[in-house]
Amino acid sequence: MATEMAQMDPEGIDGVRMTWNVWPRTKVELSKCVIPLAASISPIRSHPDVLTLPYPPLKCKTCTAVLNPFCRVDFQGLVWICPFCFSRNHFPQHYNAISETNMPAELYPQFTTIQYTLPTLQPIHHHQNPNQNPNFFEPNSAVYLFVLDTCVLEEELEFAKSALKRAIGMLPDNALVGFISFGTQVQVHELGFSELSKVYVFRGSKDLTKDQVLEQLGLGVIGAARRPMPGIQRVGGSPVGMPNPGFSRFLLPASECEYTLNSLLDELGTDRWLVPPGSRSLRCTGVALSVAAGLLGVCAAGQSARIVALVGGPCTEGPGVIVSKDLSDPVRSHKDLDKDAAPFFKKAVHFYEELAKQLVSEGHVLDVFASALDQVGVAEMKVAIEKTGGLVVLAESFGHSVFKDSFKRLFEGGEQSLGLSYNGTLEINCSKDIKIQGVIGPCTSLEKKGPSVASTVVGEGNTTSWKLCGLDRNTCLTVFFDISSSEKSDPSGSNPQLFLQFLTSYRSPEGQSLLRVTTVTKRWADSALGTEELVQGFDQETAAVIVARFASYKMENEDGFDATRWLDRNLIRLCAKFGDYRKDDPSSFTLNPSFSLFPQFMFNLRRSQFVQVFNNSPDETACFRMLLNRESISNSVVMIQPSLMAYSFHSLPTPALLDVASIAADRILLLDTYFSVVIFHGMTIAQWRNMGYQNQPEHQVFAQFLQAPQEDAQTIIRDRFPTPRLVVCDQHGSQARFLLAKLNPSATYNNAHEMAAGTDIIFTDDVSLQVFFEHLQRLAVQSS
Ligand SMILES: *[C@@H]1O[C@H](CO)[C@@H](O)[C@H](O)[C@H]1NC(C)=O
Ligand SMILES: *[C@@H]1O[C@H](CO)[C@@H](O)[C@H](O)[C@H]1NC(C)=O
Ligand SMILES: *[C@@H]1O[C@H](CO)[C@@H](O)[C@H](O)[C@H]1NC(C)=O
Ligand SMILES: [Zn+2]
Repeated sequence: MATEMAQMDPEGIDGVRMTWNVWPRTKVELSKCVIPLAASISPIRSHPDVLTLPYPPLKCKTCTAVLNPFCRVDFQGLVWICPFCFSRNHFPQHYNAISETNMPAELYPQFTTIQYTLPTLQPIHHHQNPNQNPNFFEPNSAVYLFVLDTCVLEEELEFAKSALKRAIGMLPDNALVGFISFGTQVQVHELGFSELSKVYVFRGSKDLTKDQVLEQLGLGVIGAARRPMPGIQRVGGSPVGMPNPGFSRFLLPASECEYTLNSLLDELGTDRWLVPPGSRSLRCTGVALSVAAGLLGVCAAGQSARIVALVGGPCTEGPGVIVSKDLSDPVRSHKDLDKDAAPFFKKAVHFYEELAKQLVSEGHVLDVFASALDQVGVAEMKVAIEKTGGLVVLAESFGHSVFKDSFKRLFEGGEQSLGLSYNGTLEINCSKDIKIQGVIGPCTSLEKKGPSVASTVVGEGNTTSWKLCGLDRNTCLTVFFDISSSEKSDPSGSNPQLFLQFLTSYRSPEGQSLLRVTTVTKRWADSALGTEELVQGFDQETAAVIVARFASYKMENEDGFDATRWLDRNLIRLCAKFGDYRKDDPSSFTLNPSFSLFPQFMFNLRRSQFVQVFNNSPDETACFRMLLNRESISNSVVMIQPSLMAYSFHSLPTPALLDVASIAADRILLLDTYFSVVIFHGMTIAQWRNMGYQNQPEHQVFAQFLQAPQEDAQTIIRDRFPTPRLVVCDQHGSQARFLLAKLNPSATYNNAHEMAAGTDIIFTDDVSLQVFFEHLQRLAVQSS
């Protein structure tokens, strides 16, 4: 991390960052390091230097690792030695011409990350009828199945409909589109025939099996498409008795169904089911998503396909219910979940776990755009969204820019494209003695056992291979490692380097099958040298983010887990191990620069939405966590420790301390918390603006000064998905709380000094950073 380049783009070509860049040799040494040994990887991040080779890779005959720049090559004998298993592999015939001066690209030292084109498989399907629709099996036709909630206010439905129309207009002509609407019942709309569009209705109260769904849609058993189907007769179109295969009735190329779909949307009203006073609408979100999954399962098996669900309120009917119909029962809160007083929660989560399995088995993705003042059940759906690599956006209304702009991004091409890709598989190879505990992030374990699978599981584990149904340029995963060697088994110094290889195969937005291979090497720490090497290899930003991800994971999965206490205990242990101090002398305590920012990250993490969950709804927490798990380290750091810029009249914008002391009457502050961007005008600035100085020709400079943070905020917002909320506020205004909540309360009185020494709960919730440090130093020098 020393060079300037590395600081500008710390992820480099590989998109890999690790908590420890020099690895402890043994399991015991690792446990003393406190912070887990983990890597944050961005499997298909775009980088200008990633080369795509037009041929498939060479693989080691013994362990299947791919040829890479760390292989030793004997150019005379045309042999390469695999750094993972040390097997000798012969180059195939067509590599005969290689030499030291004529190396294939995959051996160039700078191409530690490289891509290969794989032969594209044309998905074959039993319903395929080649005469039906020649566009259908083109590899680059992704499927978008829209699922729209109609149990919403008229105005909300209009917002959602216009967003959908715009989206369909933006899709490539050969993208396939399907449409389902739901309220008290589910309606699957046929798009194939504009003169008589048929709707299939499903009751919302009943949990349907996949087969029942298909039966009702006339897609029943294999081969059914070839038989006349009872009960489904159509006027016009194809002759009765020769029904179309499902996909051309329900999924059509955007160019062919845009008109039908637009007129269908024009006629679509809000759910007409009568809602008695004091009741919630009957909304069967669970059945709607089940029907959607079943439809895709038969019409788009193995294809690039996503369910794009627009949900406007809580599920109250059928499977996946999160709250009763009675309005006087509130939707579950964190307190209810904590006290096990959320009667619907576990059952709904179980329903979505099963839905996730069904989607993953077909490689399909679930995206949820929730827009409501109340919760809609994202906390319950989380498992299905995360395991399929889906996207999630939470907004107050379908008319809000957070929804509108995020939704639009899904369909944008070019610079602004998210690079939505499909059918990803990640495989990891590693040197002997390295074990993989699992992955936290948007993926599903493929349960592929092997010698490098650890016995302890974190996240999606028990495997060396993971499915990523949906992935994009931003997708990030955290891999947790363990070391299996002990002091005795360590053949000291035999091989000072270790190797890891990340192999991600996926289908690009253009429909190409690609394999991206990233090979990294790190050094084993030499235990004779003490902790010096470990200290130098510590990446504190990565460590802070991975600790946040791990703590969030534990909060969700371990009953009674006390995150604050766990963070404090680990921070004290870390400082006791890696700090420099004289025992029992807090004033002697110092931290190496590689660690010096870490305590402040922990201070802010303790105060953040990830740990103080009671300030948010379970839906919000679920969204925050899904984003924390899938964003890059630099983005995730901002979620934990927001960035603050100060604009003063006569100087350039400068980074400011995240402290109330940064507020001044003649300053504008720009706060970026990742989820929101806040522009905060000091009192004097706000007064001048209210008096309209910026509109007077002699105050051009003031006008520009007001404009600068607005422009910088737009730059931040433009690149981000989901679109953050923009808050513009003034000192002492009501919205100022969006800034104040994130600042260190240095100016507030506190009595933290009265706290007992020797406990590992150091701090109350609202101590200042300075008091936090004092306590930390005191406890670090006295522990052990
Ligand atoms: C999906 O990925 C898997 C694993 O890489 C591959 O075997 C399969 O052929 C791919 N499916 C399609 C339809 O491309
Ligand atoms: C590398 O990965 C493949 C596929 O997951 C596995 O079969 C093989 O055993 C791995 N080899 C090593 C050295 O980890
Ligand atoms: C991992 O596998 C073991 C046995 O092979 C099983 O008992 C355990 O439940 C699995 N854990 C997870 C998280 O899948
Ligand atoms: Zn090998």
